[in-house]
Amino acid sequence: MKKTPLILAIDTSCDETAASVVSGRKILSNIIASQIDLHKKWGGVVPDIARRAHKEKIKPVTQEALEKASINLNEIDYIAVTQGPGLAIALEIGLKYAKSLASKNKIPLIPTNHIEAHLLSPLALNSQGNGLIKGNTLQKTSEKIFPALGVVISGGHTSLIYIKNFNNYKILGETLDDAVGECFDKVARMLELGYPGGPIITALARKYRRKNKKSDDFELPVPMQKSQDYNFSYSGLKTACLYTIKDNPKILTPPETNQFCNEFLNTVIKSLIIKIEKALKNNKEIKSILIGGGVSNNEFIIRAVGRLARSYNKKYYYPPKKLRTDNAAMIGLVAYIKSQTETRLILKPKNLDSIDRKPQLSLV
Ligand code: KG4
Ligand code: ZN
Repeated sequence: MKKTPLILAIDTSCDETAASVVSGRKILSNIIASQIDLHKKWGGVVPDIARRAHKEKIKPVTQEALEKASINLNEIDYIAVTQGPGLAIALEIGLKYAKSLASKNKIPLIPTNHIEAHLLSPLALNSQGNGLIKGNTLQKTSEKIFPALGVVISGGHTSLIYIKNFNNYKILGETLDDAVGECFDKVARMLELGYPGGPIITALARKYRRKNKKSDDFELPVPMQKSQDYNFSYSGLKTACLYTIKDNPKILTPPETNQFCNEFLNTVIKSLIIKIEKALKNNKEIKSILIGGGVSNNEFIIRAVGRLARSYNKKYYYPPKKLRTDNAAMIGLVAYIKSQTETRLILKPKNLDSIDRKPQLSLV
């Protein structure tokens, strides 16, 4: 029987330095050095700070990933690295390091798309081989879940993707301006809550929900509810938040802050559900929904999409917690799928000079 490949994966697309070792779909280690504390006081990611931190962490994080997996570099079959999309000077650090490891140790390299990694992250299995999506072979797995509707919601992306099969995607809709996670971050900044905004806003909304049944004091407009397409837009909601806070300065202090956060979260959920439901109605053959990206860390969003999936009788898959925000395990997972289904993407270690980072890399 063919040996399952061991892959060392690296991601430095934004503000986490991440490395992981995977064996097929099994995650053997998943190390993440977060830069959140460095960027916090600026209210967002500062590219130069990110670059410096990646440079400092990339080697120790990679070594830790190998150690935690109890794997030597000479046992690795492929090195996977995020080529894009992401922050150019951050991507560069990971790609340069991966290329030099690959060529020095004569290991083939698989450049990987960060969005595709978020999209397929629900396919991950833990080191014991347990996960939401079973299937001994990729063929069996794909028959079980595809065609699927992919929902990528992160700090940089908001996309609805029709997944016919592995490597066969069609973008149904995307954000026309800000990404949904970016909107969480910007509204948190307006509320002087800190960075990253998603988890903070959610914690305050959760507090409000524990004590109250309903909130209707601060009505916010649901973006794109009437549009005929599958696109999203969050800059109008951001501006509406700005004016609502200006008109009601008491929102800046609790308990009104919590109530406002809850209303904001409800509005975001509605904006997502409207488009996901439209996609399900118009594509009846869809078997399942796959959701991924940092915003899928939000339990209220996960549950709302879950309820929708159940009401349409669709299967529903989301990644394990450590694979929702940026990580390298999902990069290894996609590289594994490529190694089995699209081998032309595997680069020989002596042919790496022309490979460069692609900050705007798209999925299709
Ligand atoms: O996927 P990710 O780590 O990075 C990108 O590829 O963009 O996503 C980061 C984003 C940030 O905007 C952060 O505020 C958001 O994910 N986020 C959340 C939650 N946890 C992280 N948004 C809503 N609720 C959460 N619990
Ligand atoms: Zn990401």
